[in-house]
Amino acid sequence: MKPIEEILERENKLSAYDLLGCRHHFPVLRQQVNGKPLVYFDNAATSQKPQVVIDTIMRYYQEENSNIHRGVHYLSERATRAYEAAREKLQKFINAASYEEVIFVRGTTEAINLVASSYGRTNVKRGDEVLISALEHHSNIVPWQMVCEEKGATLRVIPMNDKGELQLDQYEKQLTNRTKIVAITHVSNAIGTINPIKEMIAMARLRGIPVLVDGAQAVPHMKVDVQDLDCDFYAFSSHKMFGPTGVGILYGKKSLLEAMPPYQGGGDMIKSVTFEKTIYNDLPNKFEAGTPSIASGIGFGAAVDYLKNIDMQGVATYEHELLTYATEQLSSIRGVRIIGTANEKAAVLSFVIDGIHPHDIGTILDDEGIAIRTGHHCAQPVMQRFGVPATARASVAFYNLKDEVDVLVRGVHKVIEVLG
Ligand code: ALA
Repeated sequence: MKPIEEILERENKLSAYDLLGCRHHFPVLRQQVNGKPLVYFDNAATSQKPQVVIDTIMRYYQEENSNIHRGVHYLSERATRAYEAAREKLQKFINAASYEEVIFVRGTTEAINLVASSYGRTNVKRGDEVLISALEHHSNIVPWQMVCEEKGATLRVIPMNDKGELQLDQYEKQLTNRTKIVAITHVSNAIGTINPIKEMIAMARLRGIPVLVDGAQAVPHMKVDVQDLDCDFYAFSSHKMFGPTGVGILYGKKSLLEAMPPYQGGGDMIKSVTFEKTIYNDLPNKFEAGTPSIASGIGFGAAVDYLKNIDMQGVATYEHELLTYATEQLSSIRGVRIIGTANEKAAVLSFVIDGIHPHDIGTILDDEGIAIRTGHHCAQPVMQRFGVPATARASVAFYNLKDEVDVLVRGVHKVIEVLG
């Protein structure tokens, strides 16, 4: 590989924002792995963190560490202010109408479980249907299966075509007066399809059916405006958008959240407790029992501040360029098959190589310093639909370079040389 400065200088000219500056903000990317410069293409599993996020978390523990919403002392007030400021940053980031609609959770999985448990168990009855799609991650399948099983309801699945695009004509037919909620992913983690969720939400809205969107793979790659989408719930995780692990957001429309029962009981979610009766707290605290991941919440706020200075439209354009380039390069190699060829895709390139197990692809690429994910990507039904047990998945972020795609392509040639 060429010296990093030289590559960055050239790549910087390609992008609509300051790639050179951005790349330097991520210290983990500066290391060597197995004697080679690290090429990190596992961003869909988790993204790397800019120095400002790392510093914010360290500063919190060095200067502010205290429990929130509970103390009258200086440190507690300071930590509470920082945590609530993070909520407001997130509110603005997704353009929610109110901070009350922004619930801190552990991540996307907990956000979906919260809605399935609270909204689902209250509203789904025997004979009803919950509609999900063929592209879902297990976290947007299993919680709904659990509700359906408990209530005697049916889980319906919007099918996809051979490119990995949802079939909207089928979707339209599946929306009936039995459908109690639609739960769909914005971007597929396994194959990268961007679903036309605005249109899908509008179709459900016409019939008065609420829609939950799993936005985990969308928020790091594009501008998301929940009011413009008009979704009822939107779930996402900090760690996939350059923030720390252990925290995420459930956005929900206030009227729905107000009508929903709490998800967990404990401290902070109450106004008063006697053995006879508990009065629940107002939003958003009603859904936030127990001490949260305070440092992570504040670090999440720092990640949002960081992203505010980055042109998300530029990110989408640049990543699309990278993905197109990687797709062209990989699909021209004999024996390589791309899984998921939707017209609208973001950040994710899943592929298989004839006669070679994806885990072996991952191991040989790791020898070259390249990090990808191999396996079913917590989306076994997607693998089943394409008739493969697993794929190799390269997933990009805005700090990745075209030269890194070239390293990946050389790595894939090596895999075929060694194992093909
Ligand atoms: N859901 C994450 C992924 O797609 C972990 O890799």
